[in-house]
Formats: sequence, structure tokens, C-alpha cells
Amino acid sequence: MSAPSAFLAACRREVPAHRPIWVMRQAGRYLPEYRALRAKVDFATLTRTPDLAAEVTMQPLRRFELDAAILFSDIMTPLQGMGIDLSFEPGPVVRQPIRTDAQIDALPVLVPERDVPFVLETIRLVRANVPRGAPLIGFAGGPFTLMCYLVCGRPSKEFGAARAFLYAQPRSARRLLMLLGQAMGDYLLAQAAAGAQALMLFESWAGLLAEREFTEFALPAVRHAMGIARRAGVPLIYYVNQGSALMSAVSDLDVEVIGVDWRMDLAQVRRTLGSGKAVQGNLDPAALFSAPEELKRHAGAVIEAAGAAPGHIFNLGHGIWQDTPPDAVARLVDYVHERA
Ligand code: CP3
Repeated sequence: MSAPSAFLAACRREVPAHRPIWVMRQAGRYLPEYRALRAKVDFATLTRTPDLAAEVTMQPLRRFELDAAILFSDIMTPLQGMGIDLSFEPGPVVRQPIRTDAQIDALPVLVPERDVPFVLETIRLVRANVPRGAPLIGFAGGPFTLMCYLVCGRPSKEFGAARAFLYAQPRSARRLLMLLGQAMGDYLLAQAAAGAQALMLFESWAGLLAEREFTEFALPAVRHAMGIARRAGVPLIYYVNQGSALMSAVSDLDVEVIGVDWRMDLAQVRRTLGSGKAVQGNLDPAALFSAPEELKRHAGAVIEAAGAAPGHIFNLGHGIWQDTPPDAVARLVDYVHERA
């Protein structure tokens, strides 16, 4: 028997043995052992080969005393499983961007066991082998974030075509979003059935929307996905990037945890969300470049802002940068654990 998980306790706002920490994109190119594998195998193959994806998922847990593992995959992987032709260059590039009702009608439903069996097998392998029995987070992309890539076809700063789609073809946009919400809900539920112990939706581009459009278009699809995922009986996490205008909109979403970026003050976030939610975040990924004593000061400020009430999961405010020194992550994890 392994010790009760500090991460799962914090998700449920119980008092954990220590303040839990994990890092968004903790498996990836800042780790030499990841780069060594990637030198031999391309990213898509890595995500589709369960023993390699499980190995990459566990790499950061061997190196650091992280409190959770996150499935190594990508938000676009289930869309590939639905037959969407895309490549990673390294960001996702969709060969035929979705702009018409006919394309939306032609999207098949996602049947995870049939379309992405390798993801479910990766989860089983991680659960059987993960260091220290750390809990495993399954994840999917937020419907609006996925729509940004599907409509624009490639990474972008503004995702203008996706935002214009909301205004030009609101009914089609709503249908696409709800369809993605259904697929991601089913996908999350299947990940939990395979062994994922918490489920997270990444809404990386939520901050492009005003509260009105977020509430009208993005949020109903999130509610739909999370309503399905809820049946898994595990904690649900909704990460909202650049969501400072969206906190009251998400405050009544039925999830245990809201993840936020580094621009926000966690004390303010907790006041807006109320005592019914845990928070995850939110050190600036750039802070990992500070001198060791300074890093403690910056991490300490995040902990101060989160306050003493249970329900804080330490994390970065967005994914770790690929040129981050791994030693900085080791120091951060130790500091968060010692400081309590
Ligand atoms: O967090 C983890 O450790 C799990 C792995 C993970 C990846 N992508 C691996 C990946 C997760 C959770 C994601 C989610 C993801 N993918 C998001 C949401 C989180 C966020 O950062 O906002 C988004 C927006 C994507 C889309 C995506 N995939 C982009 C923009 C890129 C290129 C940018 C980059 O980091 O290189 C990818 C490719 C990708 N996904 C890589 C990795 C490790 C790089 C592929 C490589 O090794 O070349």
C-alpha cells in the first residue's frame, strides 16, 4: 500500500500530508532523457506506442518527487483518432481546416476503445509501474481550444479565423463545440475506466474570449464534457489560460479544481471562486530561470497568495519551457514540499 495521495487530497480540499506539486508539460524536451528518446522516434509515434508513452510519462517522476503523473499524449491525439488528418510540426497542423457544416456533419463520433486504444493501454502501463504509486492525471483539450486548431489549421497568436467563426456561423460553431464536448467527455470517461485517477481539460486559448462569448459558446461545451466525465467519480480539473476575465463565469462549473495562469493573484482567484473549489497553479514558467534563492521567494509568493485553506495544488501557470534547467525543477519541488 502506498501513502494516501497529497494530490488527490488537495483536489478534494482535504488536508494533505504536504502541499502537492506537479508541472504542466513535465514530460518533454527540457529533459535530456526525453530528447534521447525523441532523437529515435517522432512525436506522433511516441504517443501511439504504449510502452514508450508510459516511459515518457514516468521520466519526470523518476527524476523529481512530483505528486502526480500526467499521461503523455497531446490534446489533438483523439482528433487524429477521429480521422482528422494532422501532423505535429511541432505544433499541430490540420491538413483540411474545418469551416463548413458538411465537414462538421462528416465528423465521426469518438469511440476511445476503438480509435485510441494505445492511450488506454498507456494508462494501464503507467498505473502498473509509476514511481511511488503517484496518481495519474488523464486529460483532454477544452472544446474551444480544439476548435481553434481545427478552424485555423495551425498554431496562431490570435486564432482569428476561429473567433470569426463564432460570429459568422454561430449555429455551426455551437454544434462543433458540443460535438467536441461530447467526444472529450467520452474520452475522459474512458481514460478513467482505464485507470486515470483525476481528469483535466486544458482550455489554453480561453483568454481569447470575452466573458460573454466564453459563456455563450465555450462553457456549454465544457459543461457537457465535464457532465460526462463526472460519472467517473474522480476529481475534475479545468485549466483556464489567461482567464482573469472568466473567473466568475467558471465559478459554478461542477469541477473540483480550477487551474489558472501566472497573471492572476491566487488570493483573488480563491475569493472569486469561493470555498467550494480547489485551485491549481500558478508560478510563471519564466521564474524557473531565477537564481536559487530568488526562485524560493517567487514560489513562496504563490504559496502565500494561495493561503492556508486546503485545496491548493502547486503548479506552473502554463507549460514548462523547453530550455528550463532541470535542476530548477528539482529545487522547486523540494522547496514546495519543505515549506508545507
Ligand atoms: O503535460 C505533459 O507532460 C503531458 C504532455 C502534453 C503534451 N501536450 C505533449 C506535447 C500535454 C498535456 C499537451 C497538451 C497540449 N498540446 C496543449 C494544452 C496545454 C498547453 O500547453 O496549453 C496544447 C495547446 C497542445 C498543442 C500543441 N502540441 C502545441 C502548441 C505543440 C507544440 C509546442 C511545443 O511545446 O512543442 C504540441 C506538440 C507537443 N505536445 C510536444 C509535446 C511534448 C512537442 C513535440 C515534440 O517533442 O517535438
